[in-house]
Amino acid sequence: MTHLTKNFARPEKNEEVVTFGSLDPSVQELLTAAFQVRQRAYVPYSGFKVGAAFRAKVGGQIFTGCNVENAAFTPCSCAERTAIAKAVSEGATEFSAGAVLAYEPDVFTTPCGVCRQFIREFANEDIPIYVAQAFDARISEKKDLLQSDDPVLCTSIFNLLPSSFHTYRK
Ligand code: THU
Repeated sequence: MTHLTKNFARPEKNEEVVTFGSLDPSVQELLTAAFQVRQRAYVPYSGFKVGAAFRAKVGGQIFTGCNVENAAFTPCSCAERTAIAKAVSEGATEFSAGAVLAYEPDVFTTPCGVCRQFIREFANEDIPIYVAQAFDARISEKKDLLQSDDPVLCTSIFNLLPSSFHTYRK
């Protein structure tokens, strides 16, 4: 029966938590871009600001997005979907990495279920996803947005959404 599972998403690497300072500069740049775009979050209802950034596989361009809420609630766009919709509409449909930034005390804010499925749509291979906490105070204090010893969760779309539904095309 193994042929029935051959298309299932399986992570290439296990999740781990590392320090921001130990990450490759290209990943640091991606996380910083997500932090910066988070300042534009349109969140009059939740007040919960999220920023996301995805790097295109071809050309390496970074596409950023913030969450955009709506009085009717259902049409809200999470930061991850804003970023990917921007990328796809600019012609980038493959990504080498993604980043998500928000602030909740003591926890990492990982993508919601809908965003996991949305990211999976564009993941023919596993995509590393980096998640860090965003401290607003650092903006007003003019400190580095992310500091060397800040913890970063290194996960991936296949860790976040294993055995996922992908495509029904032949
Ligand atoms: N949100 C995101 O933008 N990304 C996530 O990964 C989690 C949730 C947004 C949706 C809504 O605007 C606010 O956070 C509160 O749920």
